[in-house]
Amino acid sequence: MVESGDEVIGEALVTAEQLQSRIAELGREIAGDYEGKNPLLVAVLKGAFIFMADLARAVDVPLEVDFMAVSSYGASTRSSGVVRIVKDLDIDLADRHVIIVEDIIDSGLTLRYLRKTLRARMPASLEVCALFVREGNQEADVDLRYIGFRIPPAFVIGYGLDVAERYRNLPDIRTYLGAQ
Ligand code: IMP
Ligand code: MG
Repeated sequence: MVESGDEVIGEALVTAEQLQSRIAELGREIAGDYEGKNPLLVAVLKGAFIFMADLARAVDVPLEVDFMAVSSYGASTRSSGVVRIVKDLDIDLADRHVIIVEDIIDSGLTLRYLRKTLRARMPASLEVCALFVREGNQEADVDLRYIGFRIPPAFVIGYGLDVAERYRNLPDIRTYLGAQ
């Protein structure tokens, strides 16, 4: 347990070494599946920025990257499923093999919106690579081609994930226990 001011941060739930070895496996799997297809990795900012940087380097086939940023309507900490595109993609998705790169799937509502929006742009294929899936919160129809880790229902920070924009720079994944 680490105390930072009056906040309590848990021990590493996933270490930096575990992250790198799982991402290397995901990279090999994606490279095998997308050989000759010039896939387009689409990261969802900001949470997926570090994962994207490591994953892209672990996929040893020619590929392209692009980024989009979304924000949920309303101030609620729980996703409403109504999502606004804050920064759209630069690259046309028509006939491309697209892989959405997400940090963590909780309710799955953000992803459902993204999928619907990107599918309407007529990609040749559309799959999802999520670093984390929080157990237990998704509705039945979340279809994820690549999953890094399934994690227990606790709020996590680090490796790109934040609480109020902080802790994205932690090299490992920790549980956030809040102010105590
Ligand atoms: P969903 O729409 O409920 O699946 O929410 C997914 C989004 O909420 C993720 O892309 C994250 O940006 C954010 N999120 C969900 N759980 C966590 C967490 O434990 N730590 C940091 N961000 C989270
Ligand atoms: Mg996110």
